Amino acid sequence: MTRLGILISGRGSNFEAIADNVASGAIPAEIAVVLSNRAAAPGLDAARRRGLPAVCIPSKGLDREVYDRMVVEELRRRGVDLVCLAGFMRLLSAAFIRAFPNRILNIHPSLLPAFPGLDAQRQALEHGVRLAGCTVHFVDENLDSGPILIQTAVPVLDADTVETLSARILEQEHRIYSEALRIVIAGNYRIEGRRVVFKEAVSHQPSAIG
Ligand code: GAR
Repeated sequence: MTRLGILISGRGSNFEAIADNVASGAIPAEIAVVLSNRAAAPGLDAARRRGLPAVCIPSKGLDREVYDRMVVEELRRRGVDLVCLAGFMRLLSAAFIRAFPNRILNIHPSLLPAFPGLDAQRQALEHGVRLAGCTVHFVDENLDSGPILIQTAVPVLDADTVETLSARILEQEHRIYSEALRIVIAGNYRIEGRRVVFKEAVSHQPSAIG
């Protein structure tokens, strides 16, 4: 059974959506650890309430290489074989990425490569795009980069605020992260350069996943 390591920095709603789908059996995996770089992350409490292993490794003041080594050690100790960044607001070092080749996923609240980095929803609103959305991608050494697994678009409405647009995107984030996990766990894909090619007719359209 695939063992997931979920990395968070805050609220943890994407983690909770994944946890719901693991609990229902829709994602054939187990959550080996939920790890945060911030002790105050509400997602850590949510993990504890669910009876899942929840660990904080504070990143404050630590050199990136040193910090990442500690995280990789913890993930290895827990037998993690697939890493999910779920609102983990840190760039990963090359050593971290090499430790889990093509086994680290991230979700970002924009249609990449548009609007990488912080405040993607605000960036989209201020740019005046008509379509916003979210992306699940493999992680490489660059910010919000790496081969794309799934994207979904949502409309931007004239009356939108950052909050209303973020909420519309978040609903889709919760759906597509689980879809992406199902695809990666099934292994029905290959990576060709920047492209993720599905080997069989794997649908990345909306499914029964909640
Ligand atoms: C999500 O919107 C996620 O896409 C974003 O942070 C939020 C975390 O929410 N991630 C990034 O911006 C990464 N560049 P959550 O803690 O409720 O899952």
